[in-house]
Formats: sequence, C-alpha cells, structure tokens
Amino acid sequence: MTDKIATLTLDGKSYEFPVKSGTIGPDTIDISTLYKDTGCFTLDPGFTSTASCDSELTYIDGGKGELLHRGYSIEELAEKGDFLETCYLLLFGELPTQQQKEEFTTSVTYHTMLHEQMSRFFTGFRRDAHPMAIMVGVVGALSSFYHDSTDINDPKQRMIASYRMIAKMPTIAAWAYKYSIGQPFIYPKNDLDYSSNFLRMCFAVPAEEYEVNPVFAKAMDRIFILHADHEQNASTSTVRLAGSSGANPFACIAAGIACLWGPAHGGANEAALSMLSEIGSVDRIPEYIARAKDKNDPFRLMGFGHRVYKNYDPRAKIMRQTTHEVLEQLGKTDDPLLPVAMELERIALEDEYFVKRGLYPNIDFYSGITLRALGFPTSMFTVLFALARTVGWISQWKEMIEDPNQRIGRPRQLYQGPAPRSYKPISER
Ligand code: SDX
Repeated sequence: MTDKIATLTLDGKSYEFPVKSGTIGPDTIDISTLYKDTGCFTLDPGFTSTASCDSELTYIDGGKGELLHRGYSIEELAEKGDFLETCYLLLFGELPTQQQKEEFTTSVTYHTMLHEQMSRFFTGFRRDAHPMAIMVGVVGALSSFYHDSTDINDPKQRMIASYRMIAKMPTIAAWAYKYSIGQPFIYPKNDLDYSSNFLRMCFAVPAEEYEVNPVFAKAMDRIFILHADHEQNASTSTVRLAGSSGANPFACIAAGIACLWGPAHGGANEAALSMLSEIGSVDRIPEYIARAKDKNDPFRLMGFGHRVYKNYDPRAKIMRQTTHEVLEQLGKTDDPLLPVAMELERIALEDEYFVKRGLYPNIDFYSGITLRALGFPTSMFTVLFALARTVGWISQWKEMIEDPNQRIGRPRQLYQGPAPRSYKPISER
C-alpha cells in the first residue's frame, strides 16, 4: 500500500480511493468501496484497465516484452532449467534444492497413470472428435474418479489434486491423440523424464521399441516452460472465477481448458499454422496483410497481437530459436512454411498498421511450425498448450484458495434493457 490517494469528482462531490503499489509494475486504485460511496459501478469490458487480484506468481511488462515467474526471467528458466523445476517454482515460490526437485519429480512420476476405467471413458467419443473436446471431457471427469482430492478446504487434498493434474495431463493428452489416430494407448514409463515420457506415449507403438530423440525432448520441455503461466489471461481468469465458487479443482481446470480453446487465445497456435498453410507461399503474403488491415474483413493475422505485449512476446523469440533447432535436427530446414512465417513476420514488423498498434508475433506464431515438425497434427497444438498451462492454472487457483480475503467473483453490469413494464395478455400482443 502507498500513501498515494486517487480522487474522483462526481456531480460536484469528491471521493478518495487508496492507491496500492506492487513490487514492480503499474499502481492500482482500490475501488472496492466505489459503489458503496458513489452508487456507481466502473465499466471495463475486456478488463483492459482492471486488475482482478493480487498475485506473486507472474509479471509481464508488455512495453518491454518481459516475462518473469516468481522474479526469474523466462529466458533464464527456458535456458537453464526444466519444466518440472518451473512447476515447483510456480507452486511453491522458490526454485527447488536438489533434494526437493528429486522428491517433486518422484511424486509427479508416480501419479502419471490414469484410473484404468478412464481408458474406457475415451471410447465414448467419436473417432474424429477434436482432442480438445476429449480433454475438456476427460479432465472434467477426473472429479468422478478421484473423490479423495476434491475437498478444497483440505490443504492435503488440494496438493494431491495439484500433483495428479500436473502428472496426468501428459497421459490424457497422449491418449486423446492415440484415440484420434486409432492406435492403442501407451502407458507412462517411470524411468523417463516428464517430456520424454509424454513424447513416448504419443509416438511409440507396442509393435516396436521407441527411443525418444533427446533434442525433441528438450524442445518439448522448453515449449512446456514457455506456456506454463501468464498472469490473469482469459483461461486463468476463468479458472479463478470457477474456483471462487468453491468448485473442485478438476472442474476448474476443465473450465480453463474450454476457455483456452478459443482461436483468440490458446487456439491461435492451431489457427496460425492453418493460416500459414492457407497463405502457402511468400508471394501471397501482401494479399493477407491487406485482409488483416481491412475492417470489413474478419481475418486477423493469427499469432500476432496481444492484450499485454505491445512489443515482441519474449516467448516468441525463444520459440523462434527452438523452431530452427528442431528443423535443423530434423533436416527439415526446407519446411515450406518457415520462409512464409519469416517473411510475414518481417513485413508485419515494418508495416505502419502493425507497428502503430503494437502488433508483434506472440508465442503462437512459431509454436505451430515446431509442433508440426515434432510430428503433432494441428488438432493437438492447443492440447499441448493446455498440458503446459495446467501448472499455471493450478498455481493461480492455489494462490486464490489460500488467500484469506478470497470471496466469490461476481461482476456487475451497465443495464441497457427495457425499463420496468406490465405483463400484456397474449390477446393484446
Ligand atoms: C494468447 O492474455 C494472454 O496472456 C494470452 C496468452 C497466454 O499465454 O495466456 O499470451 C496466449 O492467447 C496469445 C494471443 C493469441 N491470439 C492470437 O494470436 C489471435 C490474433 N490476435 C488477436 O485476436 C488480438 O491481437 C488479441 C485477441 C490477441 C488481443 O486482442 P485485444 O487486446 O482485444 O486487441 P484489439 O482486438 O482491441 O486490437 C487492437 C487493434 C484493433 O485495430 P483498431 O480497432 O485499433 O483499428 O489491433 C488490431 C485490431 O483490429 N488487431 C489486429 C490483430 N490483433 C489486433 N489486426 C490484425 N491482426 C491481428 N492479429
């Protein structure tokens, strides 16, 4: 809290509101008494100027293009750490010691299997179901299998539910993929690290041995780190709002997955690759740039723009580097979409329309090319985003539940409907 005060004058009367400062970043004006004091609400559709909570997890500086998790830069975490270490950091606030990391890794490893009845749950979906539809359904159904970790008032049950979701998401994601291609489920192996285990469950078949390429495992792990958490984005805000009613953690994460699926949010990686495929060649880029600027055309450059970043998304820079590493490892530097992506990026970064609006590539712009190179179909891209973001959702949910001032979220509105009127008998309508 600072001793700064914000003064609002309304109908000739002045009202004062306290200003709260964080560790870094913009101050906030605490308007929680505004309605009681003035009889007015604030109106901020899309929450462009509204902070919904205090948080210690993640900080984004949109102007500088910086992203911190518990104070550590995404660049350092992606380069020097691994995904489970980032999970520990987000959950508990500090990087783990060697012993803490080993214990955490063991706990997660021994929660990777699903209740065997869940394998039959998948068969209720049509073969051509979108893997995100399967993921929403299966994660929501976890609360029907794991009743012993749904009491949100029990810290032990909250922790078990957290470990279960972080551990089981790779298995659920891999099985959703296997089901969609008609191959048998591959069970996790406890002697593999988190990302290698996931890649093996996705790409191994019972008919032969499967060795995970360590370059791919490292790339997958880095992609998970880049997607782990991102302040109060749409899906995280969905998880917090669902959790504020006391809903069980599995239901809250399923709500987050549903929200992430939208093409304006996590669905953008799938949409960005489809867009690059539709553009197809460098000579067609001007046509699409013109469409992106045309207010009468709903087309937008998928993978560009961000509510917070008005500079390059730092994750996109790391993603771009990872794309080149994976394509070189695969000998696929001739991927026809790469020159289209790079030329589109170059043109957009020079174009006044994009520069004036602070529209830069975001994490979804390059991730699709990398994931496709790793062997994933576009329908799996948002599933992978959800897999990685689960630790962010869980950590944000945990922070909210443990907040002694936590209460149900319940926004108000500006009513624009009809004024009060009397019922009219049907004969008079
Ligand atoms: C993610 O919030 C997060 O942190 C999300 C995320 C995370 O990790 O959780 O970072 C993940 O969702 C990344 C974003 C992925 N989405 C896309 O790539 C879809 C394409 N981008 C846009 O739909 C858009 O940029 C948003 C949704 C990302 C942001 O929308 P805003 O903040 O509401 O911005 P806006 O729509 O008000 O746009 C401002 C202006 C408008 O033009 P004007 O009215 O000022 O003339 O920029 C234009 C928009 O038309 N614009 C674009 C554009 N994005 C914005 N024009 C063309 N192409 C685009 N991609």
